[in-house]
Amino acid sequence: MNQSKPNHDARASTLRDDQPEGLHRGLAHYGDREFSLFLRKAFIKGAGYSDDALNRPVIGIINTASGFNPCHGNAPQLIEAIKRGVMLEGGLPVEFPTISVHESFSNPTSMYLRNLMSIDTEEMIRAQPMDAVVMIGGCDKTVPAQLMGALSADVPAISLVTGSMLTGSHRDQRVGACTDCRRFWARYRAQDIDEQEIRAVNNQLVASVGTCSVMGTASTMAILCEVLGMMVPGGASPPAVTADRIRVAERTGRTAIQIAKEARKPSSFLSQQSFENALRVLLAIGGSTNGLIHLTAIAGRLGFAISLEQLDAMGRETPVLIDLKPSGEHYMEDFHAAGGVPVLLHALRPLLHLDALTVTGKTLGDVLDDYLHRYPLFKQSVIRSMDQAIYPEGGIAVLKGNLAPAGCIIKQSAASAHLVEHEGKAVVFEGLEDLAQRIDDPDLEVGPDDILVLKQIGPKGAPGMPEAGMLPIPKKLAKAGVKDMVRISDGRMSGTASGTIILHVSPESAVGGPLAWVQTGDRIRLSLSRRELSWLVDEETLAKRRKEKPLQEVKADRGYRQLFLREVLQAEMGVDFDFLRKKPNQ
Ligand code: FES
Repeated sequence: MNQSKPNHDARASTLRDDQPEGLHRGLAHYGDREFSLFLRKAFIKGAGYSDDALNRPVIGIINTASGFNPCHGNAPQLIEAIKRGVMLEGGLPVEFPTISVHESFSNPTSMYLRNLMSIDTEEMIRAQPMDAVVMIGGCDKTVPAQLMGALSADVPAISLVTGSMLTGSHRDQRVGACTDCRRFWARYRAQDIDEQEIRAVNNQLVASVGTCSVMGTASTMAILCEVLGMMVPGGASPPAVTADRIRVAERTGRTAIQIAKEARKPSSFLSQQSFENALRVLLAIGGSTNGLIHLTAIAGRLGFAISLEQLDAMGRETPVLIDLKPSGEHYMEDFHAAGGVPVLLHALRPLLHLDALTVTGKTLGDVLDDYLHRYPLFKQSVIRSMDQAIYPEGGIAVLKGNLAPAGCIIKQSAASAHLVEHEGKAVVFEGLEDLAQRIDDPDLEVGPDDILVLKQIGPKGAPGMPEAGMLPIPKKLAKAGVKDMVRISDGRMSGTASGTIILHVSPESAVGGPLAWVQTGDRIRLSLSRRELSWLVDEETLAKRRKEKPLQEVKADRGYRQLFLREVLQAEMGVDFDFLRKKPNQ
């Protein structure tokens, strides 16, 4: 019998460790690299792959679908479209999971988990063999966590967001999460609407899968991601359930192959100018205050700094141009219909660094020109020009004073004009529990001109800096028609919230910032025009209070909480972990 000899050349072509790309990347260590590759191929062939498929450029796709994350409910469709894009360009798409974080399903708060998700993202894209990665994010903390992780791993990476949810309709009113969630809840607390109505609107506020439909943190981060150049042009605004969103996913898959072939790492195109553009846009969209914390953390992963002074200076010359809730009237789907980020960037051209590079390899200016050539400008009213601004300055202003020596912020575009120059008596809550117990107490001594102060909700205090900075108006005042009061805390607030709310007071009370020693009855002065937040007590009183009530150290015995409390930085450092930031000599 004439037996054929084994074809050693053909076998070697698939098993020899002679390529630096694709499945050959980052082999597991067994002491024999070719055996490592042989084993890897044996296992993945168990899923039915051919050698031809396995020899293609590999594009990882981070699948953050989760039953606990309805904001990512369209991830399966997006993955299908990304895969199509990758395969149209001759690549092999491989999806894998990471942590997924939804705002309402994260105890104690999603911010507590952002850094954990960034570590997961960084290590899994570093550990697994991929030439580029597509990161599907959307809900508030997911996009910053993925950018932080990808920038630290510094592999070719591109973001895709799930897109905004559709708006609903309640008794002939258009509604959407979550500015309207808060508005209806405030009306319910004030007994302006009844049980039946609050139940009815609960069914309409989130009309589809996707991210919150106003200029909250998810919309803000999607837009900033596009401005940074980490996303395909026009990728931020299509709503979750539209054909436009699916086409963006396909385009993202195709672009992933390009950045893989050109090995375009984030550090090769992101610059200080990219982050200045993002800050500028954060101000111009009346974006979420959380956007500042996230941008600081993302920039820190490449060693870039964002200062509050810089933000405030930019804010004085950057008007709010987007008419979206909570600073304006419209929703994300209207922003998309008006042309989205490219139209906004066109309006802001004189204030931008148009030579900043993007993931496409082109400058922001060239990307913008190409896009507007294909989709010319038209008349619309959601994205304004600079001479028809919604608000004359940027959405966020920075305040300083003896209550916040390292600074704090106010979303001035969503504050009440009659409260931004105000002096009043402090009514202090020592923490979330104290707040829950006393805020609606009919005997609470509080008036509409008082200033509500909440301690212990900073990065270490709660922990995780929860979005509890929009303290509810005490029920008895809400019932009397009070809609807004000055409120101060070391915490955050949702990007969908509004009011005269001072946030991110630093240093926080849990680490001995002056906020820790404020007592009910103290006088506090807010002056937006002077960028001032002053606590009207003398040094002697402060020293006496420090002595009388020593600070309790916040710590945990084990696990992630111990790591978090040991390593977390203050708001002005992005609430990142110190050991994850890029140091000057790294
Ligand atoms: Fe996910 Fe608002 S809760 S974006």
